[in-house]
Formats: sequence, structure tokens, C-alpha cells
Amino acid sequence: MPTVQIKDEERVGTEARYKYEASPYLQKLYQTGTPDLGWMDQHGEWGMQAKPGNLGLRLKDIEIGTYGVVPEKGGAHLSMAPRGAVLPPDLPSLGFTVNEKSECWADNAAELYEEAVARQWSSARDIPWGELRPLPDDLERAMCQLCTFLTEVEFIAADAPTRWMSRINQDFLEVKLFLATQAMDEARHTDVFRKRALANGGGLGVSSALSQFSLKRILDSPTFSVQTGRLHLLGEGFVLTMFRQGEFIAPSRVDQEIFRRCMQDESRHVGFGTVHLREQLKTHPEIAGQIHDQLDDAEKILLQLFSCPEQVEPMAILMGGGVEHFDKGMELQGQLWRRIVNEYLQRCDSAGLDRRPRCLLPTDFAKIFTS
Ligand SMILES: [Fe+2]
Ligand SMILES: [Fe+2]
Repeated sequence: MPTVQIKDEERVGTEARYKYEASPYLQKLYQTGTPDLGWMDQHGEWGMQAKPGNLGLRLKDIEIGTYGVVPEKGGAHLSMAPRGAVLPPDLPSLGFTVNEKSECWADNAAELYEEAVARQWSSARDIPWGELRPLPDDLERAMCQLCTFLTEVEFIAADAPTRWMSRINQDFLEVKLFLATQAMDEARHTDVFRKRALANGGGLGVSSALSQFSLKRILDSPTFSVQTGRLHLLGEGFVLTMFRQGEFIAPSRVDQEIFRRCMQDESRHVGFGTVHLREQLKTHPEIAGQIHDQLDDAEKILLQLFSCPEQVEPMAILMGGGVEHFDKGMELQGQLWRRIVNEYLQRCDSAGLDRRPRCLLPTDFAKIFTS
């Protein structure tokens, strides 16, 4: 029989009970055939019945009794023991570092998780790829360059939050579940834009060092909340507004459908981030300065990004309807930019972050190039 070795530093409790060799329990069981059943007397709150609602048995439906109470501080055992279970004395620590509810929580996490699960879609089946038709060369090249950029940036929104996922205390399971769905969503976004680049006779365009730089800064964020500011408020908020305007950007119905579906997913991610920051800033208003500093930096990088032709021109060509309508496209891109900045500032307002006096992004697109 195997013996499980647990080092002292891995053990929170004091007793070592993991000696299966010559287990007295098994000896007794095989000798007498009488089960122990002692575990039946050890349980969390008992005898309530979670009732499904119109949409089935959702997480909020099992928030009954003490199971629905999320502690302000996660369990000090730092193990993956489920919230509400009986805790044995020698649970191994998994070394969670995010152990305060305010550091990661958002009240909408459970509902957003359920919505995400219900609205999963397949980039293979749910996009009408068969309807793609050859496009004029400039439009196809512009769409492929935009897809290259999106393929490049989409996966950061999976890599970055999931980096924190394994550090978040298991008692905040609703947040961890939501982040898992975000990772799945972003995997799909990365795959659908890569597929689009390759599906209509084009291919991938040029990658961007500045994009990579901004992604690295997101990944290097010192706290989950800081990352949420950079990623959810600004980065994902930016693409959310873009996808919302997808019908003015997309050169085909297939592309419209891609943007529409990605937009639904992004609105969940941005919704989570906004509510998290609102709750965090209410509990710890002193972190506002740190979030502002990070957004100063993120906004500067975004402005630099929009100093590159491969960033500015594909959108203008797509929105104008071709290189010959470039001026009109720039004008439309300016309108989109204004909307992006305004919605970003509204999100900051909603999160309780007074960003307006400090924001470095001009609402007038032309000012990016002239200031
Ligand atoms: Fe995404
Ligand atoms: Fe996202």
C-alpha cells in the first residue's frame, strides 16, 4: 500500500494521518465487514434544499444558509477544501496569496459565470464561414491585419487573469469559476480571429512590438486589482466598444457575426472588472492612486500604438470601404475613437475612479497625431 509523504511545511495541522500501511481501519473492515460510517456524522450545514429557478439550478440558488456566506477573509488553511465543508486538521497549504475578499471579489461573478456557461459558442460551427466571398484586395488585407492585431491581444485576457486564478483563495470560488470562463472565451476569440485571417485567401499580417509591450505590462501587474484596471477597464473596454461598432467595421456578414459574438463575451469581462474595482475602491479607496498611475502608463502606450500605420490604416480602410475612401474612413475612425474614450471614462466613473481630470486620451482622434 502506498504511503503519502507530507513534509512538515506543507502541513497546516499537527497530526499525520496519512499512513495507509496496515491501516487499522482497513484491517477492521476486512475482518469484521462492518463499515465505520463516522464520516456520516461530520458535515457542513445540513437539511436545506436548494431549489432551481426558471433558469435551472444556478449558483445563486445554492447560496443557502451558511453556504451563501462569502467570508471577508478566505480560509487560513489555504487549501482547496470546499467552502462550507468540515475541515480536517492537516490540510496542506496551496500557498494562496489573494486571501481578502476585496482583493478579487465582484458581486456579479456568479451570475456572469452562469451566463458565460449558457452562452458558449463554437467558432467552428456558429460562424457562417461558408458565406465568405472574395473581397477587394485592400479590404481583405485590412481585415487580415486587424485580425493579426486581435489574435495578438486577445489571449492576454486569458493569460493574465488565470495567472491570478491559482493564487486566489478557494473560498472565493465564484470568482475563480468566472475567470475560468473568461479564459475559455478568450481562447475562442484568439482562434476565431486567426481562423478569419486564414479563411478568405489572406493570411496573417505584421505583429506589433508596442502591442506586445502593453500586454507585458498587463501581465506584470503587481495586484489583481491593478491588472483589472489595465485589462478590463481599458484594454477589454477598448475592444468591447470596437466590437459593438462591428457592423461599421466588418467588410462582410461573416465578420459582423464574429464581432457580435465576441462583443457578448467581452461585455461580461468588462462587467466583472468594473464591479470588482467599484467594490475594491469602496473598501480600499487608498489604492486609487496606484490604479491611476497604472492607467497613466497604459493610456500612454495606447497612444503610441495609434502612431503606427498598421494600427491606424486598416480600421480607416475597413470603415471607409476601401483605400479610395481613406479620408472618410479616418473620419469614421475618429467617431469610433471618441466613443471608445467616452465609454472608457464612463466605466471609470461607474467603478468610482475619477479619471476624467487625469485621462491622457483625447476624445478628438486628430489630437493624437497633433499633440
Ligand atoms: Fe476577448
Ligand atoms: Fe475579454
